[in-house]
Amino acid sequence: MRFTDFVRSRPNLRFLFTGGKGGVGKTVAAAGMAYYFATQGQKVLLVSLNPVHSLSSVFGQDLWGGQIKPVEGVENLWACEVDISDVMQRYKDMLGRRLREFFKWADIPINPDPFIDIATTNPAFEESAMFDKMVDIMLEQGPNYDKIVFDCAAVANAIRLIGLSKIYTLWLQRMIESRKEALSLRVKLSFRKEKVMEEIKKDPLMADLISMDKRIRAAKKFLMDPEATAFFFVTLPLALPISVVKRFIRMVKAFDIPIGGVIVNCVIPRSVVEKGERSEYMLNKLREQEGYMAIIERDLGPLVRAYIPLFETEVAGVDMIAKVADALVSGEMPE
Ligand SMILES: Nc1ncnc2c1ncn2[C@@H]1O[C@H](COP(=O)(O)OP(=O)(O)OP(=O)(O)O)[C@@H](O)[C@H]1O
Ligand SMILES: [Mg+2]
Repeated sequence: MRFTDFVRSRPNLRFLFTGGKGGVGKTVAAAGMAYYFATQGQKVLLVSLNPVHSLSSVFGQDLWGGQIKPVEGVENLWACEVDISDVMQRYKDMLGRRLREFFKWADIPINPDPFIDIATTNPAFEESAMFDKMVDIMLEQGPNYDKIVFDCAAVANAIRLIGLSKIYTLWLQRMIESRKEALSLRVKLSFRKEKVMEEIKKDPLMADLISMDKRIRAAKKFLMDPEATAFFFVTLPLALPISVVKRFIRMVKAFDIPIGGVIVNCVIPRSVVEKGERSEYMLNKLREQEGYMAIIERDLGPLVRAYIPLFETEVAGVDMIAKVADALVSGEMPE
């Protein structure tokens, strides 16, 4: 099924993701999709969740700053390169408060700063902050746009990013339960039950946990709804990115994330070799590509939505993105 047929078959589709191996064209494909929907008259937000942003360079305009900015030269299209520094600071402050409370409570005279630094320099912390931002955008901006296209970082990150919703809910349930247990134990052990109950109602940790649980559940509902969400995999006609996509698909299925399909990028058009470049070098490249195309057809055939040709130059600027969108619309192998 072609990309356009797929999106037509999902009239309520709102959240699109692109993922794949590093450098295969995830950002280019996401930009092409966003451009396509915008030119169809839909209101579109393109969001980069990759800590190493590249929307600015793909569009050839400054989209950095963490805010939603209109894309110049494309009506109905907005973009945002997500900045996680504020969330990271919020996490640090929260963790610091909790650790200080805990050390005081346990009567441990120790400076919590080194512990906070260790915990927050963990890469998982950044991922979690990015996930938090993604949930914010889904819940807050979801109602304001017809489509939100998320450009994710390379495979593992993207999958964990989305899979986190499932893990988070499990973890939060456990945390809420054990917090309830701890609090009820305090009530049982106390002589001043009413006073303790009053305090418990204001328990900041419990309030945090419950509000986080609510947000994640709301986002998870969208993320796992095949009518609302579709995850697209981008690959090149080469061994490694193909095997990454296959592995990726298995992981995504395990997390119940709906699959949109596969986009094959950087396909050398046959005519290039037949009409002009008949060098041994180009013939070999084309032969190699045909071998990998056969593998893609065999292993991923029904999922392929479009082929993007290998352009003469890198993809930079709105005119080039328009060509990517044309390829998505055509859905055919570039000739
Ligand atoms: N079809 C194409 N023809 C020519 N150049 C392309 C094509 N697709 C992508 N490129 C170029 O390849 C480079 C990588 O593309 P892109 O940034 O979209 O990949 P990515 O998967 O998002 O990378 P990262 O993993 O770093 O996020 C860019 O310089 C882009 O312009
Ligand atoms: Mg990218």
